[in-house]
Amino acid sequence: MSEELHIPKTDNRADIYEALLPQIKALVEGEKNFTANVANTMAALKEAFGFLWVGCYFVDTENPDELVLGPFQGPIACTRIKKGKGVCGTAWLQNQTMLVQDVEQFPGHIACSSLSKSEIVVPLRKSDNTVFGVLDLDSEHLNDFSEIDSQYLEEIAVLLGEVFYE
Ligand code: SME
Repeated sequence: MSEELHIPKTDNRADIYEALLPQIKALVEGEKNFTANVANTMAALKEAFGFLWVGCYFVDTENPDELVLGPFQGPIACTRIKKGKGVCGTAWLQNQTMLVQDVEQFPGHIACSSLSKSEIVVPLRKSDNTVFGVLDLDSEHLNDFSEIDSQYLEEIAVLLGEVFYE
């Protein structure tokens, strides 16, 4: 595919995800390297929506109770998160998407950036359903994420799960 992302000029987030999904699919299906695929997927999400922070954390093979920072777009971030800690560690522990409308109301939220107001974290799963990482998006606005985001981000997480290899 071309190296340029095509993003419709609309504020309708579902329409943007609809346009983005096949492009991300084409990107990751054309490349075997997992890091390259995650890096481009994070760049695509950042370019399409302009969120404050878009990135992945992965279970660290050397410290299996910790996530370690992976490819991301945005301000520098915490490098390690323990299982069960913060929004990311909770999404991992519970193996479920966490939609946080106001990060200050989430007990134990880890503030990598003081600008972050709302957040969504989606687990990345292997074919056996175990979590190998999380996809994390942060916004400067309260209540910025909805079921629309969780639905499409879960589809993106499935795509990344399909191209994951250890
Ligand atoms: N806020 C996250 C930490 C990661 S940063 O947002 C990039 C959390 O509470 O897990």
